[in-house]
Amino acid sequence: MSIRQHPRPTPPPPAAGGMRAVDWDAVRADFPLLARHVHGKPLVYLDSANTGQKPAAVIEAVDGFYRRHNANVSRAVHALGAEATDAYEGARRKLAGFLNVRHDDLVLCSGTTFAINLVAYAWALPRLQPGDAILLTRMEHHANIVPWQLVAQRTGATIKVAELREDGSLDLDALFAAMTAEVKLLGFTHVSNVLGTINPVAAICREARRRGIVTVVDGSQAAPHMALDLPALGCDFYAITGHKMCGPTGTGALWARREHLQAMPPFLGGGEMIREVRFEGTVYNDPPHRFEAGTPNIAGHVGLGAAVDYLSALGMHNVAAREAELLAHATEELRKLDGLRIIGEASEKAAVISFLVDGAHAHDLATLLDLEGVAVRSGHHCAHPLMQSFGVPATCRASFAFYNTHAEVEAFIAALRKVRGLLA
Ligand SMILES: Cc1ncc(COP(=O)(O)O)c(C=O)c1O
Repeated sequence: MSIRQHPRPTPPPPAAGGMRAVDWDAVRADFPLLARHVHGKPLVYLDSANTGQKPAAVIEAVDGFYRRHNANVSRAVHALGAEATDAYEGARRKLAGFLNVRHDDLVLCSGTTFAINLVAYAWALPRLQPGDAILLTRMEHHANIVPWQLVAQRTGATIKVAELREDGSLDLDALFAAMTAEVKLLGFTHVSNVLGTINPVAAICREARRRGIVTVVDGSQAAPHMALDLPALGCDFYAITGHKMCGPTGTGALWARREHLQAMPPFLGGGEMIREVRFEGTVYNDPPHRFEAGTPNIAGHVGLGAAVDYLSALGMHNVAAREAELLAHATEELRKLDGLRIIGEASEKAAVISFLVDGAHAHDLATLLDLEGVAVRSGHHCAHPLMQSFGVPATCRASFAFYNTHAEVEAFIAALRKVRGLLA
């Protein structure tokens, strides 16, 4: 097969104590966009929870696919068709290895939003009925709320909400108490995109399973930042989105237990998802192809495969350790600022910091920080119910990735001190 192998970061040598030492400056240089200036200042990109930046290996994988291998998948016997199919299916295998699951239990799709809608339409809609309940948590992204509201409207099921503690962690006692007999499905996020809270997925899934509740985990903010072993988590469904984990936009996957995939009817109909079509009736393909109607984002998933190679070569434990250091540094510095409030201080936390500054609107802060070259997000972060519970319309959010530096943390704090002075 002639698909070119794309450059990976040089695997770092083992360091004393078993952890590998990584040259983070060299890693950063793999990301061309991070060398940019904005408004005449060096870019400090602190919006990776929104979308991640891409290493050259990913950009080149997409470029290389279109330059040398472009064809549709599974439809042509010619050489390019075989190469494109191998590249696409190769990406599925890489991602499956990354998540420690079987490749044919992984549906490739446009991201978490699609993946959760697929579960909503193909698993929940045919099963739920009046008297059933869907349990969600207060910290969900709209992508893990609105699909369930659509299901509830059409089936007569109701939605229950598990609340949080003040520090932004899930109140597990309340969550377990809410797992009553009428609850058929629990949807919750692995990591909050606003608070950074890391939820104890395995413990939650164990409790849900004991009660016969099916679990749908939103892994959007987990897959980019930690090593994942989905079977060990014990969930029924797990959704990821590629663009937050160094991959192209419009890529992602739904992993599901085999028995669910086999029992689920198609969500979308069209080419690729069938075995035989007659006007009298259609025989559907097996999973995962049953759920991949139409021409997929082939080049994008080839890029996602390259992203998985890249992250795997770095080592997700190294990524998590690096981001924990950046989080600790930024949190310590932010706590020194008078009038600044951090929203979300759970003990298990990813490198996401939402904050408010007395007397300053989040959008004004973000706009002035942008003029200093610092990109943070401001707004409701697609989590209106969470904002309501904290009694605020918006926060500023700085979110870090392994390619950020301690110097950028300092630059962010200096810019924040400056713009806070302007708004006072
Ligand atoms: C926790 C969470 N869930 C779901 C999504 C939606 O992901 P996508 O728009 O890639 O489908 C996001 C993206 O911001 C997210 O942070």
